[in-house]
Amino acid sequence: MTVHFIGAGPGAADLITVRGRDRLAACPVCLYAGSIVAPEILSWCPEGARIVDTAPLSLDAIMAEIEAADAAGHDVARLHSGDLSIWSALAEQLRRLERLGIPYTLTPGVPAFAAAAAALKRELTVPGLAQSVVLTRTSGRASAMPERERLSAFAATGATLAVHLSIHVIEQVARELLPFYGPECPAAVVFRASWPDETVICSRLDRIAQLAVDARLERTALIFVGPALDAAQFRESALYAPDYDRRFRPGGAVGQAGGGEA
Ligand SMILES: C[S@@+](CC[C@H](N)C(=O)[O-])C[C@H]1O[C@@H](n2cnc3c(N)ncnc32)[C@H](O)[C@@H]1O
Repeated sequence: MTVHFIGAGPGAADLITVRGRDRLAACPVCLYAGSIVAPEILSWCPEGARIVDTAPLSLDAIMAEIEAADAAGHDVARLHSGDLSIWSALAEQLRRLERLGIPYTLTPGVPAFAAAAAALKRELTVPGLAQSVVLTRTSGRASAMPERERLSAFAATGATLAVHLSIHVIEQVARELLPFYGPECPAAVVFRASWPDETVICSRLDRIAQLAVDARLERTALIFVGPALDAAQFRESALYAPDYDRRFRPGGAVGQAGGGEA
């Protein structure tokens, strides 16, 4: 028996990976985080599967489900939204499984920030403007932020910020970032990226909070801030420059003497 942790992606059922879908289809038990995993994804569970929404369950109750499946010799598909590597409560489940000696696998998923960037039709790293993306959040009831991970500390770098779990405090987020990025810095909110009711608001840092409040966007939204979001004036990446000499393209680009394919 094995527990297969699967990143279910940001919402749209066809954004789960092929491997994730196949693992799900092979497990007679599915535990899913009901609040943000699309019901359509569950249609890949095999006929007669035991399907449990873990949103109202404690960690102990989730582990009891897994132990019952283990006793019956049934593999478990454990679905989490987006990717498993961020804010999925994966670590505590893995620690329990280690203690119980129950084997597990991890299948990554499309994270919300990537789906939201696609909704924005933006690259989050743009030459000369931002070469780092900070995936962060503000303090919540379940987890306080470590002291050194204050928004202002990340803002001081000027990187593109993707602020999760914070739409309910967007006014505070904008206020805290304003001294670092300035009022005209591009900012955006993406609500439920890839879901049918996906909503995108693009504006500037001094206006984004009011627009989000007026649109009544609550939960499941990402706040982006940084110059890369509206970059018209930037130099092109050296990667595809005609004179860029690199391992797989010795001598430059196709069309140049000695050019090769990237
Ligand atoms: C508990 S975290 C889960 C993150 C997830 N593991 C991931 O890889 O993106 C939930 C937060 O992710 C963001 N989020 C998740 N799905 C989203 C979506 N479809 N569109 C916009 N933001 C989303 C929101 O900020 C939400 O509050």
